[in-house]
Amino acid sequence: MITKPKGCYDVTGQDAQIYKKIEQVVHAYMNVYNYKYVRTPLFENAELFKRGVGESSDIVQKETYDFIDRSGRTMTLRPEGTAGIVRNYIEDKLYGGLISPVKEYYFGTMYRYERPGLGRNREFTQFGVETLGSDDPLIDAEVISLSVNILKELGLDVNVKINNLGSKDDRDNYKTALVEYLKPHLSELCEDCQKRILINPLRILDCKIDGDKDILKSAPNILDYQSEESKSRFKKVLEYLDYLDINYEIDSSLVRGLDYYDYMVYELSYNDSLALGGGGRYNHLVKELDGPQTPCVGFACGVERIINLLKEDYNETNTIDVYVMAVNEEEKLKANILLQDLRLNGITSETNFLDRGLKSQFKDADRHGAKHLVILNSDDLAKGLINVKDNLTKEEVKVPEDEIIDYILGVL
Ligand code: HAM
Repeated sequence: MITKPKGCYDVTGQDAQIYKKIEQVVHAYMNVYNYKYVRTPLFENAELFKRGVGESSDIVQKETYDFIDRSGRTMTLRPEGTAGIVRNYIEDKLYGGLISPVKEYYFGTMYRYERPGLGRNREFTQFGVETLGSDDPLIDAEVISLSVNILKELGLDVNVKINNLGSKDDRDNYKTALVEYLKPHLSELCEDCQKRILINPLRILDCKIDGDKDILKSAPNILDYQSEESKSRFKKVLEYLDYLDINYEIDSSLVRGLDYYDYMVYELSYNDSLALGGGGRYNHLVKELDGPQTPCVGFACGVERIINLLKEDYNETNTIDVYVMAVNEEEKLKANILLQDLRLNGITSETNFLDRGLKSQFKDADRHGAKHLVILNSDDLAKGLINVKDNLTKEEVKVPEDEIIDYILGVL
């Protein structure tokens, strides 16, 4: 038997129902917030993620799925959506359009070669937004509140952790101070952090192993290394969130795993769950990828992690509106025409495809959770009538054939 690849999952049954529900809520919210739906390729030139997500990030260092195509080009299955959207923004010169900022959203599959576990898949789905072209803290607040409101609509009242990484200069000053502070404690750090101190010292702050150690608790605080401009920008974001009634907790150890961020970063979680989503401002990525200087902010949420939480108390049962039954072979053709009519009128309907007798059709209708049974028999049909049974109350009525659709629509 051939099994699915490690870290990949079939989305079926209840999970698939929840997946669909998430999609519906996301599309509806993106529509009212006026974000435009976009799709970018599932794979891109490897160079995009090296320069975009960053050579020093864990993702590029050890989590990308790379392959060489038949013409010898190195490609990478996308580990996230931001870099592709930025590539498209530059390639299609979207910065030249009349509407600014450009506000886009996506819903799609991502790939990371992670150690698989609950909520850590190798193939997973993200929805997210990118806004390109605005430096106004108002849009930081819009992005955060949009992500919070989508999860609230899905039944998850999430916690927001937020931090300010400051400008590149602020961060460079902070990095120097942090490295100076940590150098004498190098041997107390985990193996990964001993490497991080050279390539990405900020990541040591939110390391799962070292993050809680006392040496890190008394490390210099990034918020003490911000310029006045950066402080006032962050203060504005928080003020706007207050107005929107979005609760948050400032967490100066929140760094995020992608290299492109500056200024505001944030993460969403539910109780003690793994992060459900996260994002932040990235004002230099467009330039870094050879486009014009463009301030951007965005977020992405992990669909499988949301499903894992929602399925705990999801109990939607399977139902259909109508089950169409034919007593004899002669009525089958009529039943089939009626089935199409019902469906074309938006009524979810089913019939029997196994050529079973009436008793077995009743059982099948129950298995499908049919609310109404439409039973075609030749005696009634000869009088222009159709027998309709309410499958809950068991009441039966005879409805004129040409009124059947209106009748069903009326009782649903
Ligand atoms: P990220 O924090 O790497 O950010 O991923 C966002 C979300 O994707 C995570 O919070 C998590 O829910 C989900 N996720 C990530 N990795 C996995 C995995 N292996 N298995 C299941 N779910 C996972 C980004 O990707 C940025 N592009 C977000 C962003 C957009 N920043 C600015 N714009």
